[in-house]
Amino acid sequence: MEIVSTVASLKEAIKKFRDNGDSVGLVPTMGALHNGHISLVKKCIAENGCCVVSIFVNPTQFNDKKDLQLYPRTPQEDCKLLEEAGCNIVFAPEVEEMYPVEDTRIFNLGPVAEVMEGKFRPGHFNGVAQIVSKLFYAAEPDNAYFGEKDFQQIAVIRSMAKELGLDKINIVAVPIVREEDGLALSSRNRRLSPEQRKNAPQIWETLCKSCKFAESHTVAETIKFVIDTLNGIDQMRVEYYEIVNGKTLMPVQDWNEADYIVGCITVFCGEVRLIDNITYKRN
Ligand code: PAF
Repeated sequence: MEIVSTVASLKEAIKKFRDNGDSVGLVPTMGALHNGHISLVKKCIAENGCCVVSIFVNPTQFNDKKDLQLYPRTPQEDCKLLEEAGCNIVFAPEVEEMYPVEDTRIFNLGPVAEVMEGKFRPGHFNGVAQIVSKLFYAAEPDNAYFGEKDFQQIAVIRSMAKELGLDKINIVAVPIVREEDGLALSSRNRRLSPEQRKNAPQIWETLCKSCKFAESHTVAETIKFVIDTLNGIDQMRVEYYEIVNGKTLMPVQDWNEADYIVGCITVFCGEVRLIDNITYKRN
């Protein structure tokens, strides 16, 4: 496994595989890797001759500077996990490499970037689009892998790729990996106190219960059920719960309004912001 930190050395490392006729897969990450990331890496390895994983905590996507400071950084452990998984190239640049000058690009990401996370984390998706586009230009992958936990992020990245004419890159959405108790794997989970960690699986448990509830209730009632249940748990506060069309990410009012319906949630567990989602319907 080669570890590189500049765009030039990344291109050089990838060229060796390209010259061999290999396809290139890219797994963009912010490090602090867990089994969710490793499932992306495994899929990338299975589908490409060259698997590139980037590790970069992107400052432009953090609208909360404290969150950026507290974001876990575990480079040594990350490289060990990637080596074991069979990754070919790790790209771990410094901030100055990715942003030699300030990136002032404002993307026109459309309505998918304005709802949910877009409302609560202004500028976040523009920052994601900035860094992912830079990674796409640097690695020129055939395939790029993203976890479905960040359901909205995938739609935003597709929109960015279309806007920049990078839509030859195949964006692959990989299912969420969960702990045995249902908690979606996240780098942020390691910031939960033992008490918060004990309660956090109730997010997924409540979403699962809401599927049964939804069989005999309206969308609005189902939203209220999820919010009220989770807000009743110690140290939990729902930031938003929205039930949306899985393609457009626009809220639905009626279960018959779309063929693909997803519930997307953000919950503060103490100070730790966790996200998750559930599919109600996919025809
Ligand atoms: O999902 C993430 O970890 C980040 O948003 C990403 C895609 C690596 C961009 O920094």
